[in-house]
Amino acid sequence: MRILILGGTGEARALAAELVAADVDVLSSLAGRVREPRLPDGTVRVGGFGGAKGLTAFLRAEGITGVVDATHPFAGTVTANAAQAAAQAGVPLLVLRRPEWEDDSSWDVVPDIRAAAAAVRAWPGESVFLTTGRRDLDVFAPDDRHRFLVRTVDPPDGPVPPRMTLVLDRGPYTVEGESALMREHGVGLLVTKNSGGLMTAAKLQAAHSLQVQVLMVARPPLPRGTVTVATIAEAVRWINQGNAGA
Ligand SMILES: NC(=O)c1ccc[n+]([C@@H]2O[C@H](COP(=O)([O-])OP(=O)(O)OC[C@H]3O[C@@H](n4cnc5c(N)ncnc54)[C@H](OP(=O)(O)O)[C@@H]3O)[C@@H](O)[C@H]2O)c1
Repeated sequence: MRILILGGTGEARALAAELVAADVDVLSSLAGRVREPRLPDGTVRVGGFGGAKGLTAFLRAEGITGVVDATHPFAGTVTANAAQAAAQAGVPLLVLRRPEWEDDSSWDVVPDIRAAAAAVRAWPGESVFLTTGRRDLDVFAPDDRHRFLVRTVDPPDGPVPPRMTLVLDRGPYTVEGESALMREHGVGLLVTKNSGGLMTAAKLQAAHSLQVQVLMVARPPLPRGTVTVATIAEAVRWINQGNAGA
């Protein structure tokens, strides 16, 4: 048995730690986007594979017997590639996805980041808190009417909105901290992806109690027919049941 974990999330690190502790042969893969990533236990490789074709070749060359896609819910390209490559190489695939944040009837939900940028443009208020990540900033760049409080892990390297205050930070965050930040910047609208999980959920509670509007970007759909679990325990069980090689 040799497992490839497609990572870049806390869940991927937790799964790698469990498998390494159980002496499973596991290889974690990171895209290489973050300058100083939190590294999982065990063997790690960094960088793209070269699309679905490259990943298929990688699975074969490395003798991978099972893939766990534990990437971020918004990493839709690698998830689609993994489904294609696993099918091509005849390797079983499990998608580990944390549950979505439960829909709150007060949120405005949009299907993708472009729709979020259009909704922000039409929003009559002044100060927007953007937590959608540095790689999605370009769609907000033409908006010179709003003030943007932008929080990212690494500094943006593409186009950004002209009236931007940048905060470099990474979770976990607290409700108190999030409330203080939103108050300090007079935030009236929070824009977030429905990433789910506890690391970054505090902003939603803070927004709720401060009556800050929430614009929620929905997740991209999973490829059809993927076997999906929500917890690390379920992923370990799937592996222990022999689904990823003996
Ligand atoms: N999107 C987010 O909001 C977000 C948030 C937190 C963490 N992350 C993590 O950041 C990484 C990149 O996310 P993304 O949204 O840029 O992905 P993406 O748009 O789905 O993928 C773009 C390309 O990046 C490469 N890639 C992505 N994840 C990889 C991995 N784990 N190992 C090797 N190559 C990978 C692949 O390149 P090739 O085609 O060359 O193979 C893929 O085609 C992922 O590991 C994800 O879990 C993403």
